[in-house]
Amino acid sequence: MAGLEAHYSARDIEARILAAVRAAGLNPDQRLSPEELGALDHFHTGGFRASLELLELAQIRAEDRVLDIGAGLAGAGRLLASMFGCRVDCLELSPDYCAGAVLLNRLTGLDDRIEVHEGSALDLPFPDDSFDAVWMQNVGMNIADKRKLYAEVYRVLKPDGRFAFQEMAAGETATSYFPLPWATDPADSFLISAEEMRSILGESGFIAELFEDTSDAHLSMTSANATPAATGQLSLAVFVDNLAQKAGNARRSLQEGQIRLVRGVFRVK
Ligand SMILES: C[S@@+](CC[C@H](N)C(=O)[O-])C[C@H]1O[C@@H](n2cnc3c(N)ncnc32)[C@H](O)[C@@H]1O
Repeated sequence: MAGLEAHYSARDIEARILAAVRAAGLNPDQRLSPEELGALDHFHTGGFRASLELLELAQIRAEDRVLDIGAGLAGAGRLLASMFGCRVDCLELSPDYCAGAVLLNRLTGLDDRIEVHEGSALDLPFPDDSFDAVWMQNVGMNIADKRKLYAEVYRVLKPDGRFAFQEMAAGETATSYFPLPWATDPADSFLISAEEMRSILGESGFIAELFEDTSDAHLSMTSANATPAATGQLSLAVFVDNLAQKAGNARRSLQEGQIRLVRGVFRVK
């Protein structure tokens, strides 16, 4: 993806992760916890806190098999696997992030419960009816074909399965501040409005259990200088260039209503 893409080889990513972990005073030779890594591996608006909130809303159970689409470094997968003991498959387009995810799974001792797959959200490498829950955070804004995306989510979910997500949506006016965390320029950004999202999800066979706009809550919870770049050695800046500028543009876009932050839990009809 354009804004948050990893610019490094798999080996570079591993070296950067290990250097950042050490610089943060953690010992990668001792088992790390998902919480300790939270500032590094939750690549989405609201970071670790937003994952904990979605976790509660999604009502994941120990027996669930979960798919995380666009998993990045698999931070959410480790949280799910460690808190509930469930089995998680992580699907990620970038081979570099896949390598980072595999490393962090090993460092947290969770590699027996999490499998990382390199692949596309538009062509999920899983049979129909495979998962009890699909999880997705800040991924759809890089995918133009939303109908195909939601059709794939629906296909791999079991009857009565849940789709839990958070996403950026288009606001009232066009996005004008670039680069954004997910897009260097407008050609990389594929936002749709919250209403359109709900409608396509409905047409894809989902019913909404929860669908809410959390933009204002997010803005009031985070101060203007609390960009991920400012949170110390373990931060998204390990992978993302110009992070402060991108995060600042995203905040300004949210404040001015050019973008909205939404989350939802939808169920297979
Ligand atoms: C903003 S990051 C979010 C990562 C992760 N969900 C998280 O919250 O930590 C978006 C991720 O989606 C991945 N991605 C973008 N398009 C994708 C696609 N078509 N299929 C699979 N992954 C994709 C990117 O490579 C990137 O890792």
